[in-house]
Amino acid sequence: MKSSISLAILSSLGGAHAFWRMECRGRVGLARLDPLVDPGTLSQHVHAIHGSSGFSESSTYEDLVNADCTSCAVLEDKSVYWAPSLYFHHADGRFEEVGQEGGMLAYYLLFEDRKDEGKGIKAFPNDFRMIAGDSSRRNYSVAGLDHRLPDPPMALWGLLGQTTQEALRQRAIGFNCLHYGKGDNEATLWRHYMPDKSYIDQNCQNGVRFEIAFPSCWNGRDISSPDHKSHVAYPDQVMDGRCPEGFDVKLPTLLYETIWKTYDFAGLPGEFVISNGDPLGFGYHADFISGWDVNFLQQAVNQCRDDSGSIYACPLFTIQDESEQKKCKLPDLPSIASEKVSGVIGNSLPGGVTIQRGPEPARKPAVEAPQFVPAGAPSPNDLPGGVFQEIEAATSVQVVEAAEVPEPTPEVPSPTPEPPEPSDPPVPEGYELVRTDYVTDGRTVSKIVVIETVETIMMTTETVTVTVSPTGNARRDVHGHQHHHNHRRHRHGHGMRHAS
Ligand SMILES: *[C@@H]1O[C@H](CO)[C@@H](O)[C@H](O)[C@H]1NC(C)=O
Repeated sequence: MKSSISLAILSSLGGAHAFWRMECRGRVGLARLDPLVDPGTLSQHVHAIHGSSGFSESSTYEDLVNADCTSCAVLEDKSVYWAPSLYFHHADGRFEEVGQEGGMLAYYLLFEDRKDEGKGIKAFPNDFRMIAGDSSRRNYSVAGLDHRLPDPPMALWGLLGQTTQEALRQRAIGFNCLHYGKGDNEATLWRHYMPDKSYIDQNCQNGVRFEIAFPSCWNGRDISSPDHKSHVAYPDQVMDGRCPEGFDVKLPTLLYETIWKTYDFAGLPGEFVISNGDPLGFGYHADFISGWDVNFLQQAVNQCRDDSGSIYACPLFTIQDESEQKKCKLPDLPSIASEKVSGVIGNSLPGGVTIQRGPEPARKPAVEAPQFVPAGAPSPNDLPGGVFQEIEAATSVQVVEAAEVPEPTPEVPSPTPEPPEPSDPPVPEGYELVRTDYVTDGRTVSKIVVIETVETIMMTTETVTVTVSPTGNARRDVHGHQHHHNHRRHRHGHGMRHAS
């Protein structure tokens, strides 16, 4: 027996958003330096460093703003932007630097807090500091989902319990397989793990773009915190959305992009490893210290809102050309002078970092973990690219009363009943079954069936509640919800999961 009601949930996610794209064509250094995590000493692993040449293991805000140059385009920006670099581990044991292409881009995305629109965006205070990601992380743990599956539509994350800060932090990392000749590019932050060597060889002819978004909801008080993270939080869609309570001041959303020339190693046996010993990508992270003047940056945030994102469209910025950006380098720092971090560097990563595959957090001092080669990943299909993967304005939800599930026989009471297998809802004509996911919190099994046409995704969530009575009898209530999403042209990877 089926009855259905329809209701519409309206959200205002559509529309263009102001932003600008800070270009940093030069790299001031590749070195074991990190004044946030390891002040005053060599850092644990190598970083690719962009921005002010005042950067060092102990640099202050004054050092940054008074430096001679920046490797970024805008002279008023003396910020520093840094993240781990990439190495190739040859099959014979040698590590070799992977080249970086085009410097880096730091997007300043001007998304307001969606629960507080009209309130505006505050510039980073002078010397504002923060870290995105977690260097020791070696697994993906969002809702028990397989990291190789594409994310469900953002509008459902809250419903599925996937908007915890821990989940959002993992979704703030992206590895974009670049294949310009093949048409459709992947969306930003679409894949949250580094594809393996054979996948990269076969599909990513133009390299791999590392992407990481920073938290943009601030407690409004502290320019940093002991872990450089707890003074900020992610809004519930990573780059956009609603800020959690206590983090009510919205900052620009920073997103770093760096492209690595993985194609230089095409056909060679071995694997790619991030400089922190992470071959999987879950431990990718990035750091920021604002070297802007807060008043100047506030003017730019208010006025530089051209939809093109071009820094040239902002009349406030003084722009230096690419060759000047590339000339800017760190001065000779004695601390890093003697360490070889470029080219072929021998049988160990700089700093003696070892490869650790998890799933437990990486330890320091690190110990080589047993070899584990992940099983062949399903091939993610192409997605339309660009920073803004938007979900359209209207979401229609149908609540469907599903058929009754027969009671289990009382003779075999089971204290922990098997999760019942909800039956698949019918796939309407013109649609294709894309994937089935299960999300469980121990008592409730939600089965998510994703079906789609080229232009439309329909998502069905069926929730089965298992109630165990003192006599061991189990009662099951089944609720179904269907969510229709109008998407831009979209193709999803296929995959299957089973209730366990
Ligand atoms: C997954 O990573 C998190 C964060 O590092 C850690 O707390 C957790 O123990 C890891 N899970 C496993 C199964 O090791």
